[in-house]
Amino acid sequence: MVRNLTKKSFALSALVAASLMTSGVMASEKTEPRNEVYKDKFAKQYNSWHETAESKEVVDMLEQVPSLVVLWAGYGFAKDYNAPRGHMYAVTDVRNTLRTGAPKSAEDGPMPMACWSCKGPDVPRVIEEQGEDGYFTGKWYKGGAEIVNTIGCGDCHEKGKSKLRVSRPFAERAMETLGTPFDKASKKDKQSMVCGQCHVEYYFEKTKDKKGFVKFPWDQGTTVEAMESYYDALEFKDWTHKISKTPMLKAQHPGYETWKLGVHGQNNVSCTDCHMPKVKNKEGRKYTDHKVGNPFDRFEETCGTCHEQSKEFMVNRAKESKAKVADLKARVETQLVKAHFEAKAAWDAGATEAEMKPILTDIRHSQWRWDYATASHGVAAHAVDEALRVLGTSVDKAADARVKLAQLLATKGVKQPIAYPDTSTKANAQAAVGMDMKKMNADKADFKKNTLPKWDAEAKKREATY
Ligand code: HEC
Ligand code: HEC
Ligand code: HEC
Ligand code: HEC
Repeated sequence: MVRNLTKKSFALSALVAASLMTSGVMASEKTEPRNEVYKDKFAKQYNSWHETAESKEVVDMLEQVPSLVVLWAGYGFAKDYNAPRGHMYAVTDVRNTLRTGAPKSAEDGPMPMACWSCKGPDVPRVIEEQGEDGYFTGKWYKGGAEIVNTIGCGDCHEKGKSKLRVSRPFAERAMETLGTPFDKASKKDKQSMVCGQCHVEYYFEKTKDKKGFVKFPWDQGTTVEAMESYYDALEFKDWTHKISKTPMLKAQHPGYETWKLGVHGQNNVSCTDCHMPKVKNKEGRKYTDHKVGNPFDRFEETCGTCHEQSKEFMVNRAKESKAKVADLKARVETQLVKAHFEAKAAWDAGATEAEMKPILTDIRHSQWRWDYATASHGVAAHAVDEALRVLGTSVDKAADARVKLAQLLATKGVKQPIAYPDTSTKANAQAAVGMDMKKMNADKADFKKNTLPKWDAEAKKREATY
């Protein structure tokens, strides 16, 4: 089924070695955030990178799955959440989402500076200039005129070179926690680590001397259980659930962690092998395709380099895996929506903190596991077994919570089933959760009209001095 990998890996390393010899700039040079600078020097890479703009479709996940509004009640994601799209849109999308709100000054919320951290090469630039302390201080607004270039060359490369780098100190520390610092890693590992700067689980650390630093919760390991135990030990919560009052965890996008657990991660098939294959241009010259997107678009250069099955077979298999994950995911959502409302009914009927604690712990763990499995975008392709295993434990914990809730509600004399509000559409769910979408949308429109042009003008002025 699988062709000889050794030969292929050798060819890859030879190509990289050759490209390294042509570069001679020192690693310590300051980050160049402007991707256009490399338009001519690295035309093939630049042009293919630019093609990530073709993945422009916006898919409103809250419209698709209104239950998400209930699961994230009281948290930003209930306002607005779209499926990921091309790297070219990272800055645009973080500016436009309702989650970042409509702040008017650097003291204004709702989000911290940390929210820029995976959006582009201005992040390492600002960290070089101000240190992590300076970078992470303040609210999201503060970075508006600074973080303006989308995910690009400086995020993954040393300045002006093909040599890969991890450009964020917090990501470098996290990789070290796992045992291998970036500099000591193999070529293959580096190809995945560059993606693992951003496609990971993280949280905003709050300690005495570090306020709002990005940290990956990997000190005990990267499995769903290890990270859960890490967060529990800290009694960390991302927010308190608006309906059930559960101290919640929001999983971000632990793609690197779940990939590691899958058959490809275990066999050291890198993110790059599937998402950034070596391809040939018209003149037959090999280069790395920087159009990070769906690997099936270049089947021959991705899956086809190792597998002999047809594209049709592989695409169908992937579809089946996706359907299995989607089915189990939907079952968890149904259970969790009910659990949140039943917990509210219990509080309303006079349940005590002590009575609620074990129930809220089950809800917390169930939803964390559901989120870990499903926010790892592409998990059906990367590690379907692990996704199904984790979702299985999630259903279990939701069931535990609901059994305990049924017993508690009975002792409080609450008639069951309780009345669940209508959450069958995004709008109904947002109304049920008590969100004023009209005001939020109006404020955002004003922000886009008045603040964004100011940020862009300021950035242009600064970049003119480079
Ligand atoms: C998300 C990470 C990432 C970004 C963004 C990125 N690169 Fe790369 N680049 C890579 C990887 C991975 C390789 C392959 C290196 C390897 O095989 O070890 C590579 C290889 C290269 C090479 C070596 C020749 C080749 O084609 O393999 C050049 C030159 C290059 N990139 C230029 C650029 C330029 C210019 C930009 C910005 C327009 C850019 N890269 C953006 C990850 C990235
Ligand atoms: C600097 C942070 C960062 C790095 C490095 C990075 N990504 Fe991303 N990636 C993102 C963000 C943010 C998005 C979502 C952009 C949006 O929706 O606006 C994204 C989106 C994607 C998508 C969805 C694309 C689509 O068209 O739907 C894929 C696939 C992806 N990344 C793979 C990778 C791979 C593979 C690597 C390493 C070669 C990588 N990324 C490196 C931040 C990053
Ligand atoms: C660099 C080589 C390489 C590339 C590229 C690659 N694979 Fe694999 N794949 C492997 C190896 C190695 C295994 C494990 C084989 C084994 O255990 O016998 C594997 C296993 C699989 C399996 C069986 C795993 C399971 O869940 O039982 C599937 C399905 C698969 N790959 C699909 C794909 C698809 C789809 C792509 C492209 C998007 C792809 N592979 C790209 C090397 C690769
Ligand atoms: C064996 C090939 C393979 C490897 C290795 C791989 N991916 Fe994927 N990835 C895929 C496939 C196939 C899809 C699903 C594409 C589809 O059908 O939507 C996908 C989907 C994704 C998505 C979701 C895109 C979206 O729009 O929803 C992201 C993000 C992503 N991968 C990032 C990564 C990162 C980061 C790594 C390494 C840590 C990685 N991938 C390793 C094959 C691979």
